[in-house]
Amino acid sequence: MPALVLLGAQWGDEGKGKATDLLGGSVDYVVRYQGGNNAGHTVVVGDQKYALHLLPSGILSPGCTPVIGNGVVVDPAVLLSELSGLAERGVDTSKLLISGNAHLITPYHTTLDKVSERFLGKRKIGTTGRGIGPAYADKINRVGIRVQDLFDESILRQKVEAALDSKNQVLAKLYNRRAIAVDQVVEELLGYADQLSGYVADTTLVLNNAIDRGQVVLFEGGQGTLLDVDHGTYPFVTSSNPTAGGACTGTGVGPTKISRVIGILKAYTTRVGAGPFPTELLDEDGEKLRTIGGERGVTTGRDRRCGWFDAVIARYATRVNGLTDFFLTKLDVLTGWERIPVCVAYEIDGKRVEELPYSQTDFHHATPIYETLPGWSEDITQAKTFDDLPKNAQKYVQALEEMSGAPISAIGVGPGRDETIQINSFL
Ligand code: IMP
Repeated sequence: MPALVLLGAQWGDEGKGKATDLLGGSVDYVVRYQGGNNAGHTVVVGDQKYALHLLPSGILSPGCTPVIGNGVVVDPAVLLSELSGLAERGVDTSKLLISGNAHLITPYHTTLDKVSERFLGKRKIGTTGRGIGPAYADKINRVGIRVQDLFDESILRQKVEAALDSKNQVLAKLYNRRAIAVDQVVEELLGYADQLSGYVADTTLVLNNAIDRGQVVLFEGGQGTLLDVDHGTYPFVTSSNPTAGGACTGTGVGPTKISRVIGILKAYTTRVGAGPFPTELLDEDGEKLRTIGGERGVTTGRDRRCGWFDAVIARYATRVNGLTDFFLTKLDVLTGWERIPVCVAYEIDGKRVEELPYSQTDFHHATPIYETLPGWSEDITQAKTFDDLPKNAQKYVQALEEMSGAPISAIGVGPGRDETIQINSFL
């Protein structure tokens, strides 16, 4: 069972950090395959809480090699500050490997992200402002800067020049901003070269060799299925592929080598930023979920929008990712509700619809059809087995499993590493 993908089944923030960290002790490599420091993983180890943005959660597990794959966009300043922050807390970061083919987020990407959002006004995406979209746009436009370019000054300069040629026109003429000097960018980027050179590797080769040797490799998705640029609620998405296929393109490991795809699924739903969200609660229940669930972004500090569990989305995640398992997180947050509504289908223009509509117009008009399940009031944070859960919590989990199309193999009942019920092993 050598290669597993672990990804968000909803709009991100499902608690992936905890799930990855839980497996961290038994895996040899934890690999990020897409996204950048728009992600935010909170990992609680003992009494220590870590917020990771760019680094794979595996960095906290001794013995595990963390890898940043070619599909990730790397802001070198953020990476170095995250590394030094961990080193100060005694975490060994020396094993990190970074693909030389990963693209860099430069200061002009961050600037463009912010100004273009402002320019969109009411139509803005609500990005994290970290330069993710502009960096991926440059990658696809073939004017991106890669990690390996840091080690060849002449190539780096040519590429920065090419990239800034048109961007400076846009910045000055469209956004009324000052042009960005090539020298300044090149100098800043070259300043990172020595600090990063020791981490750069042919990660595709390393990972394929590891899998061939029978070592366990865990691919850790950032964001979530509904934020995928191809399969999410476009245009209110991120600019990469968090879905399972992204693990292949973002690392250079073929699909035949992936044995298991685990979807992290929150026991209710949240979303950050703009875009449709059928089960969103704009009432006291939404506020209660936000408060009890601590639903505030790790990266941006923004309040997350909260709503009831949506089984249509979970089924969709099973389909587009080929999920083999779910890890249900934050079940404890639902303790104390007398009745818990679950969205089982949508009503769109007077018709009942069971599957996620592919049309954006339909999805914007979807209203949830709820089934209401009985709640529980007992504290579940000490539960170690499924049988330890109150009967109604068991029924809630079973109902979600039936509606979602893949077995729930683990359940999070609290933020700590130990507060997990493991039903089936992931390895
Ligand atoms: P970007 O990834 O910064 O371009 O933002 C695009 C959309 O994805 C926005 O709605 C963000 O709020 C959302 N987003 C990006 N990263 C995350 C994440 O880690 N969790 C949840 N939402 C995210």
